[in-house]
Amino acid sequence: MTAIPINGNAIAGRIRARVAREVALLKRQRDITPGLAVVLVGDDPASSVYVRTKARHAQAVGFTSQQFLLPVHVAETELLTLIQALNIDDSVDGILVQLPLPSHIDRWRVLEAIDPSKDVDGFHPYNAGRLAAGRPALVPCTPLGVLHLIKTVVSDLNGLDVVVIGRSNIVGKPLAVLLGDAGCTVTGAQLQTRNLPDLCRQSDIVVSAAGSAGLVRGDWLKPGAIVIDVGINRAIDSTGAPKLVGDVAFTEATKRAGYITPVPGGVGPMTVAYLLANTVSAAVSRRGFQLSLDHEHDQVRSSCRRWQDCAADLQATT
Ligand code: GUN
Repeated sequence: MTAIPINGNAIAGRIRARVAREVALLKRQRDITPGLAVVLVGDDPASSVYVRTKARHAQAVGFTSQQFLLPVHVAETELLTLIQALNIDDSVDGILVQLPLPSHIDRWRVLEAIDPSKDVDGFHPYNAGRLAAGRPALVPCTPLGVLHLIKTVVSDLNGLDVVVIGRSNIVGKPLAVLLGDAGCTVTGAQLQTRNLPDLCRQSDIVVSAAGSAGLVRGDWLKPGAIVIDVGINRAIDSTGAPKLVGDVAFTEATKRAGYITPVPGGVGPMTVAYLLANTVSAAVSRRGFQLSLDHEHDQVRSSCRRWQDCAADLQATT
C-alpha cells in the first residue's frame, strides 16, 4: 500500500478563495472590510515567518492587515495597552498575538485581554469554554484545519477511533473536542502515554501534534489509517542543509497509511486559511448578522459543512 498524500496547499487555496469571495460580498453588500491585527513580540525567526505569511494572505483575500512588531524586552503593560487599543478599534475584527511570548510576559494575562469577539485564534478561555460546551465559538485554526483535511478523505467520522498525540491548548485539546463532536472515539495521548505504538495501531486516524521528529513509526499504523502530521520540526538533510520534518517517519508511514499529510504542505497552510475564515466569522458575528453566502455561521457545528469545497476536495482526492 502507498498512502495518498493529502494536499494541504491545494485545499487551503480553495478555502482562501472562498474567503476572498466572502470579503468581496461583505464589501459590496455591507461596506465592511474585515481587519486583522497580528502582534509579534521579539524576532524569533520561525514566528517572524509565520506572522509575515499570515499578514500576506490577509492582504491577498482583501482584508486590511496590520502587523505590530514589538521588541523582545517590551513591557507587558505596553503589550496590554496595544491590545486594549485594538479591542476598541472598530476597523479591527481579529487580533492575533503570536505565541510563544518571551518569559517575562504572562501569556494568559495577554490572551485574556483580547476581546473574545475578536479572538480569531480561539485561545481565550471564553471561546475554549464555549467550544467545550458545544456552543458557537471562535475555534482554534489548526484543529479546524485538521478536521477539514480529515473530512476531505472520509465523509462520515461516526464511530472512528482517533488518537491525538499532544495535549496543547492550540491543537490537541480543541481538536479532541471537535472530533468527539463529530462522533469519533478520541484518545488524548502524549509522549509519556504507555503503549503509544499499540494505541496508534488500534486507531483509524492518527494525529500527531507532539513536536517530536520521527515519533510515529510506520509499524505503529493500522493499514489504511489516516495520518495527520501537525509537527513542524527542524532537521538536517543528507547534504547537511536545514529542512522541516513532521512528527511522522514519512517514508515508512506511506507504506502503511491510506492517507497522509506531508510536512511542509499539509496542515500548515490550513492554519492560515482558517485564520482568515475566523476573521470573516468575527467580522460578521460581532456585527450580529449572517453572510448570505453562509447561512449557518456556527463555527463549531458547521466548521467543515460551511466549506462546500470539502465535498469537492473529497472527490478530487479519491
Ligand atoms: N504559535 C504556534 N501556533 C500558533 C497559532 O496558531 N496562533 C498563535 N497566535 N501562535 C501560534
